[in-house]
Amino acid sequence: MPAELRWPGKALPDEQPAPDLPGSEVHGAPRDGWLDRVYLGDGLEVCRHLLPGLRGQVRLVTIDPPFDTGSTWTRRVRLRGAGPTVRVHETQYDDRWAPGTYLQHLYERLALLRPLMAEDATIWVHCDDRRSHHIRCLLDELFGARNFRSAVTWRRKPGRSNTRNVFDAATDTLLFYSRSDRYRFERPVTRESEEAQRTIQKRFSYTDADGRRFMPTPIVSPNPRPNLYYPYKGRQPPPNGWSFSLEKMQAWDAAGRLYFPERGGRIYRKIYLDEYEGQPVSDLWTDIHVINPMARERLGYPTQKPEALLERILRTVTAPGDLVLDTFAGSGTSAAVARRLGRRFIVCDDNPGAVHTITRRLLTQDVEDAPGFSVHRAPTPEETGGLRLERRDDALHIAHLDAPSLRARLGSARVDDWRRLADCVLVDTQWDGAVLRPDVVDVPGEGALVRGTYPLPATAGAVRVRVVDLLGAACEATLTLPGG
Ligand SMILES: C[S@@+](CC[C@H](N)C(=O)[O-])C[C@H]1O[C@@H](n2cnc3c(N)ncnc32)[C@H](O)[C@@H]1O
Repeated sequence: MPAELRWPGKALPDEQPAPDLPGSEVHGAPRDGWLDRVYLGDGLEVCRHLLPGLRGQVRLVTIDPPFDTGSTWTRRVRLRGAGPTVRVHETQYDDRWAPGTYLQHLYERLALLRPLMAEDATIWVHCDDRRSHHIRCLLDELFGARNFRSAVTWRRKPGRSNTRNVFDAATDTLLFYSRSDRYRFERPVTRESEEAQRTIQKRFSYTDADGRRFMPTPIVSPNPRPNLYYPYKGRQPPPNGWSFSLEKMQAWDAAGRLYFPERGGRIYRKIYLDEYEGQPVSDLWTDIHVINPMARERLGYPTQKPEALLERILRTVTAPGDLVLDTFAGSGTSAAVARRLGRRFIVCDDNPGAVHTITRRLLTQDVEDAPGFSVHRAPTPEETGGLRLERRDDALHIAHLDAPSLRARLGSARVDDWRRLADCVLVDTQWDGAVLRPDVVDVPGEGALVRGTYPLPATAGAVRVRVVDLLGAACEATLTLPGG
């Protein structure tokens, strides 16, 4: 009987199918019948919903659940445009847990992720030293200890020396399990790790006449073979012979790729620095850094992970077209990377602010030829009064946005231009009454204002408008045109 972690109320979840969660918003067109998907909802319910159609279809589960930090994670929101700087802090998610609930929460969700995975799929769970030992026990139980592959240590930052009586926590852990012993693994290489940097500094210390830096590597055969045992340009072969034949030796020599030390002895092959791919990556990742405050990928979502981290995981264990699932998606790093690398994805988060951040991120991502994506959340009810729409000549004009929660949070600060409160505007000029398919997507860059006035095509029918404010709260209204 393998060791097992126990807690009061430990129980596996059922697989009762969840109510349907149809897409309420669609961006772009399907490719080969597929639309990527973003769900607003609890990962447990989303897994229940996915199971009937996608059992055994997912090639990679990558999750970054709350770490049990005991904190409430907030985001700083700043009003757009010119005018006094006003900032509010908006809660994104709560990482405080009653005793015993954290493990049960994660256990249930891991248990329902497993049947969605293909036989040759892998799962990666991002955590830190608060819970990594417990999560490893859960994964051993659900996936089998024999399917443990690696516990990657990601060094997020240099350690600080001013922590009291303990070592500063500078690392996170990525627990990597497979569903069976058959899974894809393309070993990554890097030039950026400390090991690779040391190799570059120490061993690439030779320079060709044309200035190219190189490292000499021995060409020694591990096993004796008669055709590898020959003297070359007066140099005697090593005891087991060279590692390649005379013809190859001549070809490398003619290409100037052999190094003959002046002191005599063996011949070496030159590995040029400009062709060097790097060192194989080990389970210590020191070459990926937290997102710096000025980085373009930074979205202000708390605990957002760098794209380079997800890129390494995806490139290692998935191929283009594979399906990636993340049920704790946050700002959508896994979705953005999957889309950029030509993988399909399904992501979910139970925080509406996260789902808005993901949607916005995907809408502003510059990726050619990606399939469209759908957003699945309960439809936003029509807001009468909250959003005032007008037709002016041949254009739609948004005259006012209430954004009541945001205005309440601003206290006495008066905001006359509603556009200072808006994060994005989506307009569907052929609204079918059910699914928003925006043909106008107004998602301005940081600090900039939405336009607020949009030309209407002659074919416009019922025009549905969705405005999302800076807190991620949405408001929708319809402008019905004559004939629409
Ligand atoms: C650590 S953050 C993920 C950050 C993400 N990796 C990124 O790069 O932005 C964890 C996320 O899990 C979400 N979450 C927590 N419990 C959840 C649940 N039961 N279902 C869905 N999402 C959940 C939180 O809202 C939060 O956005």
